Amino acid sequence: MNCLSPSILSADFSRLGGQVSLLDQAGAQYVHIDVMDGMFVPSISYGMPVIRSIRKCTERIFDVHLMIEEPIRYIDDFVDAGADLISVHAEACRHLDRTIHAIREKGVLTAAALNPATPLSTLEYILPELDMVLLMGVNPGFGGQKYIPYITQKIRDLRQMIDRAGCQTDIEIDGGVNLDNVRGILDAGANVIVAGSAVFRGDIGENVRAFLRILDEQ
Ligand code: DX5
Ligand code: ZN
Repeated sequence: MNCLSPSILSADFSRLGGQVSLLDQAGAQYVHIDVMDGMFVPSISYGMPVIRSIRKCTERIFDVHLMIEEPIRYIDDFVDAGADLISVHAEACRHLDRTIHAIREKGVLTAAALNPATPLSTLEYILPELDMVLLMGVNPGFGGQKYIPYITQKIRDLRQMIDRAGCQTDIEIDGGVNLDNVRGILDAGANVIVAGSAVFRGDIGENVRAFLRILDEQ
């Protein structure tokens, strides 16, 4: 099944709870929550207190994307705050295997994220331990950037790698996805779609429904 994970990085934070409820009511299955530390990526976003607050607004899957150095330091805190799925960047973990196992031990879904230029082979041996792989469609750090075209081939290659390994791993694409390019991204083999600016610009409910119509076609 294809799922939509709207990124609240593009939300109006003065009305965050209400906007999260709108995503839920329109049928988005996940809520994508971007945590940035100003070290792994240039920007700083939000952390546990914000996640804990919006946990009251929806039961949808909290898809927490950690763009932070050595995320292993904070896995317990993010699970306690309400994360259901945690993505850590391979580039930010000195010990990726240890970090992935720390997430699994907390009983939440586990994902590894890769920056655009990081090769898929980084994940070859750890793939069976992952529920999802997050491929960045842009360089992480900001919403509203343009999708990097070579990522579509990377999605195809990852889908092939997953099939060859006999795994059921989800492929999430994050960054630069909009209503015009999402079909090509799904065709290449992605099944979890992150969209920030394309959801929060204009009518949130309408945008979510427009994405879900395309996701349901496939
Ligand atoms: C970028 C974040 C993304 C971002 C996506 O570093 O990881 O989740 O919010 O925003 P759009 O969809 O606007 O590219
Ligand atoms: Zn993200």
